[in-house]
Amino acid sequence: MTTTDGFPSRVLHPSDPIPDIDLADPDPARAGALDQVFTDLRPTHPVFWHRAKSRPGFWAVIGYAATMQVYRDSGTFSARHGMTIDSLRPDQDPASGMMVEVTDPPEHRRLRRSVGAFFADGVVTDLTPVVDAYVRRLLVEVRERGGTVDFVEAVAAKVPTHAAGLLLGLPLEDLDWITARTAQVFLSGSGTRGDLREAAEQANGELLSYFAKQLRKRGAGDDSLVRRLAAGTANREALSTGEAVLNALNLAIGGTTTTRSVLTNLMEALLRFPETFQALRDEPSAVPSAVEEAVRWANPVRHLARVATRDTELAGMDIRAGDPVLVWPRSANRDESVFAEPHRFDIHRRPNAHIGFAAGPHSCPGTGLARVQLRAVLGHMLDLFSAAEPAGPGELMQSNFLHGYTRLPVRFTPAS
Ligand code: HEM
Repeated sequence: MTTTDGFPSRVLHPSDPIPDIDLADPDPARAGALDQVFTDLRPTHPVFWHRAKSRPGFWAVIGYAATMQVYRDSGTFSARHGMTIDSLRPDQDPASGMMVEVTDPPEHRRLRRSVGAFFADGVVTDLTPVVDAYVRRLLVEVRERGGTVDFVEAVAAKVPTHAAGLLLGLPLEDLDWITARTAQVFLSGSGTRGDLREAAEQANGELLSYFAKQLRKRGAGDDSLVRRLAAGTANREALSTGEAVLNALNLAIGGTTTTRSVLTNLMEALLRFPETFQALRDEPSAVPSAVEEAVRWANPVRHLARVATRDTELAGMDIRAGDPVLVWPRSANRDESVFAEPHRFDIHRRPNAHIGFAAGPHSCPGTGLARVQLRAVLGHMLDLFSAAEPAGPGELMQSNFLHGYTRLPVRFTPAS
C-alpha cells in the first residue's frame, strides 16, 4: 500500500508519541520549544514514528546511539533520496550518483575523493592566515563603526562566503550575490514575502547556473576548484561537467549555510552567558573547546534525511524498506547518556564527542575549514572587545533544516 506522497503506508507502525507536535514545522516560534520536547522523549523514545503532519510521516531518530547507527550504516540508510524532509522523494534525487551528498557508497567514494582531496592537500593550512586576516579586518571595522551592529550582516554572513570563495576560487565581487542566495536555500514554509520554499528553489537554481557559467568561462591556467574538479589530477579522476558543477554547489552551500548558523549560535550563547565572554578573555587557550561546544550546544543542522533500503531494527523499532528515516542531531548532541549536564554551555567540556559534523561516509569534509573560521571570529572578538551585550531581540531563520539567526543585534564594548 502507498500513500499519496509515494512513501509506503504506515498503518502497521506504532502510534506517534507527539501527535500534536510537528518536528518539521519551520516556524521558529514553535521550533524553539523542540529542545524540551526532545529532552522529554529521548529516554523512552530514542526512535519513534512521527506521523504525517505538515510533511509525510517519518521515523524520528533522536537518541545519540541510534543517530550514529544511521550515519554509519549507509548500506541500510540511504542518502540518495534527498537531504531534507522538504526535498525527500521515494525515487532517487536527480543529482544522486553525481553529487556527493546524495550518493551512497561505493559510488560515493569516487566523488568524495575528488571533493575531499582539496581539503587534504594543505589547502586549509594555506587558507588559514588569509581567513584570519579577513576576520580581523571585519571586526576592526565593527569596532571603528561603534554602536550597535547586526552580527549576522556584519560578520556571520560574510566570513563563510569569503572562505568558500577562496576555496572555490570565486571572484570577490560575486560574494555578496552568493551570500544572498545561500541565505535562502534552506528556508521553508511561508513568510512575509510569500512561499519561502519557492524562493529557496529559485536561489538554488540561480546558484547552479552560476557555477555552470563559472566552469564555462574559465580558461586554461585557471586554478579554481570548479575547474580542478572538472580536470582531475594524477591521484583523482576528473569529474564530468555536471558532477563538477553539482559538487561545487554542494561545497558552496554546505560550507556557508552551516558555518554562518554556528557563528550566530555561538554569538547568541555569548550574549546569553556573558560570564563566558569574560572567562574566554582570561583564558584564550579555551577558544578551540568553546568552538566545539558551540557546534554541540546549538547544533545548526536540525535534521538530515535517509531512506531505509531494507527491513531493519533500530532501537527496538521495526523499520521497513522504503521508510523515510530522519536523524535530529540537535537532539543527539544533548543526549544525557553521552553528555553530562547536556543543556549547559560548557566551554571546557571534555571529552566532547558531539556529532555536529556527522559521522560515517558523509561526515563533513569541511570540518577543518569551519574550525578555522569559528576560531578566528571568536579569537579576534575576544581580543578586540571586552564585552558584548544584546541590543535587541534576535530573529531565528524560518527553516526546518537549519537552526541559526537571520538577525542578531549586538553592542560590543571595545577593549582598551
Ligand atoms: C560549522 C560548520 C559546518 C557544519 C556544522 C557542517 C555539518 C555537516 C554535516 C552534518 C554533514 C553531513 C550531511 C549528511 O550526513 O547527510 C556535512 C556534510 C558536508 N559538508 Fe559540512 N558542515 C560545516 C561546514 C562545512 C564547510 C566549511 C564545508 C566546505 C567548504 C562543508 C562541506 C560539506 C560537504 C561537501 C558535505 C557532504 C559530504 C558527503 O556527503 O560526503 N561543510 N556537513
